[in-house]
Amino acid sequence: MGELLNDEIYADVVIPDKLIPVFESKSRYKGAYGGRGSGKTRTFALMTAVEGYRLAEAGASGIILCGREFMNSLNESSLEEIKQAIKSVSWLNDYYEIGEKYIRTKNRRVAYAFTGLRHNLDSIKGKSRILLAWVDEAENVSEAAWRKLLPTVREDDSEVWITWNPENKGSATDKRFRQVEHEFIVEMNHNDNPFFPDVLEQERLNDQENLDDATYRWIWEGAYLEASDAQIFNGKFVVREFERHPTWNGPYNGLDFGFSTDPTGATNSWESDGILYIEYEACKVGLEIDDTPDYLKDNIPGIEKYELIADNARPESISYLKRNGIPKIKACVKGKGSVEDGIAHLKGYKQIVIHPRCVNTAKEFRLYSYKTDRLSGEILPEIIDKHNHLIDSLRYAHERTMKRGANTKRHRATAGKRTYR
Ligand SMILES: Nc1ncnc2c1ncn2[C@@H]1O[C@H](COP(=O)(O)OP(=O)(O)OP(=O)(O)O)[C@@H](O)[C@H]1O
Ligand SMILES: [Mg+2]
Repeated sequence: MGELLNDEIYADVVIPDKLIPVFESKSRYKGAYGGRGSGKTRTFALMTAVEGYRLAEAGASGIILCGREFMNSLNESSLEEIKQAIKSVSWLNDYYEIGEKYIRTKNRRVAYAFTGLRHNLDSIKGKSRILLAWVDEAENVSEAAWRKLLPTVREDDSEVWITWNPENKGSATDKRFRQVEHEFIVEMNHNDNPFFPDVLEQERLNDQENLDDATYRWIWEGAYLEASDAQIFNGKFVVREFERHPTWNGPYNGLDFGFSTDPTGATNSWESDGILYIEYEACKVGLEIDDTPDYLKDNIPGIEKYELIADNARPESISYLKRNGIPKIKACVKGKGSVEDGIAHLKGYKQIVIHPRCVNTAKEFRLYSYKTDRLSGEILPEIIDKHNHLIDSLRYAHERTMKRGANTKRHRATAGKRTYR
């Protein structure tokens, strides 16, 4: 169980044991990497606030910078996590002023700033003294971003905190912060989190039962992700940047409605020369229908101007969006066998290229799996109905190109020529 930190003033700050030495030390780099639900985000969020308190009381003034590689809006930042953490401890709650879009100490000495390292760091650089920088979800932070960020955090005694779920051996983050050992960057997994909630334990057991071992270890035990034949899209997709060309076919926009635990997910994709490009995504759990039009517009530029094919199971939501700023929304058709057909269609592309800003889409492409027999390791012809919300939105978006056999037409035409020659 977590324990109080040394100093009396830190009463009520309870964190996992494994992180206590990290936060009791003085070190430029601190961090944690590991599997899901290990308490990384929550603990580091809380400790930024404790550190902000300590700094402000010591007379320092400046910002706590919370960065991630891409950040289109505050929705994608650590803002909410930090608000929750502060509210959970009464003396922190008294010390900070929390607005809808800002957090700062009441004495105005220390304020939080949120930024996308790739595109927005310049606007913060130089403006303010960065006392502490915390990068959560750091796995996909590029070498270029690290090179820019690290020299920017240059106040005396400033610290850089990093938390991430490992994925690729040799990623820029892995090389800098895991392969090069740092005493206070530690591995954290679910069994290190004394607050590991029941819902996640259920998820974990479910994954242990259904997923192949390599994927299970990646999600829950901090292992690197290895390709596996159980992954439905294994070998079919890449995550890389691209510039859309005006001659591409599309956009193909699709929307899957969420519930309280599933996200509402939308994607925007394009086709060119047999390759499917996914350029933008919107993905949020617990999104209210009233907030959906703005959320979609914020995350997928121009979504309101084009047809948007949505899950036909929610006609009332479609009708609402149609009347509220998304006029070209339509229901998909979804016939029998549509899941298998949709997957076959997506797999029919030469390649699926996912823009790195579409982190949730990339995650689903990695996780969407066939069931694996736990004992024999055999891959069963059964699709696990999970990690498929953005993929569903893609299937809806491509329903009509599918009917017209878009990515098989070329092959048929060739075959036709042969027959009739
Ligand atoms: N100090 C805490 N107090 C109460 N609950 C906590 C605390 N720390 C963690 N938890 C619980 O554990 C859950 C997982 O924690 P957190 O989201 O920080 O894990 P994570 O390692 O960042 O996971 P992921 O890899 O999914 O991002 C939280 O949703 C919360 O329920
Ligand atoms: Mg986290």
